[in-house]
Amino acid sequence: MHILKDLLQSSLLELKKNEIQDAKSSLDEIFAFVLNCKKADLYFMQNFKIDDKKAKKISSFIKRRSKHEPLEYILKKMWFYDSELFLTKDVLIPRPETELLVDIILKENDLNNKTVWDVCTGSGCIGIAIKKKVASAKVFLSDISKKALNVAKKNSLHNGAEVFFKVGDLLNPFKGQKADLIVCNPPYVSEEDYGLLSKEITDFEPKGAFVAKNNGFEFYQKISKNIEKYLNPKGRIYFEIGKDQADGIKNIFNDPFWRAKKIIKDLSGKNRFFLLEIE
Ligand SMILES: C[S@@+](CC[C@H](N)C(=O)[O-])C[C@H]1O[C@@H](n2cnc3c(N)ncnc32)[C@H](O)[C@@H]1O
Repeated sequence: MHILKDLLQSSLLELKKNEIQDAKSSLDEIFAFVLNCKKADLYFMQNFKIDDKKAKKISSFIKRRSKHEPLEYILKKMWFYDSELFLTKDVLIPRPETELLVDIILKENDLNNKTVWDVCTGSGCIGIAIKKKVASAKVFLSDISKKALNVAKKNSLHNGAEVFFKVGDLLNPFKGQKADLIVCNPPYVSEEDYGLLSKEITDFEPKGAFVAKNNGFEFYQKISKNIEKYLNPKGRIYFEIGKDQADGIKNIFNDPFWRAKKIIKDLSGKNRFFLLEIE
């Protein structure tokens, strides 16, 4: 048997020794998860006795976090918008900016009975969140990674979101079809910038979800070819972009059939999304 107070103390020390920035919140998340309680309850349970099995589990999670493994992979799940998502290392951990993108899309568009494609879906986070809010939308999730799509399938079932799946390179699996709205958060980090990312990312998250050739523009360039064949009249496409990519992406999508183009900022004021609307 172990006393909670002692375990909390030694675990916090281990996390801090290994320079885990969010040591305290990682600690709370791990303990609350293993003990199946609220984080706030931990502080009323200081003298609580923890059995060996739970203590061992806590210790293995703390060790993994000490090696900078993201909490989301250790606990294998997270919340995104109003969906609980399961995660494996085959998928990128969805980011708060992407939740904002979902919010913007839902506010700016009436998607009732519309066809929506979430291209580069990863965990399925965007498409599932949209389908949960707009039940009548016909939502497709696509990715080049079969392993990622398996995670997305599990997540759609878990969230009761009846969506469709396509595997393949960008828009190729949709040949001959059209959407009213395409949302795409593709890899957009240049090889050079990837080297500057934190250990949490480079040691654990799938590199293929981050890196794009041509200074990070590879996937936008590819999608820009023949995109008009895939959109219904007045169809829209929303991209997530890197904070320094606004000018570059505007230049890629320079065909005359775009009736609107807009860069949208995130909550910290950085250029983060790109909206296009076709004639
Ligand atoms: C930045 S992640 C986005 C994941 C998820 N949509 C999100 O926002 O959290 C990019 C995703 O694109 C996928 N991907 C990479 N190359 C692709 C391609 N050529 N065609 C389709 N998907 C691709 C990766 O497997 C990865 O899941």
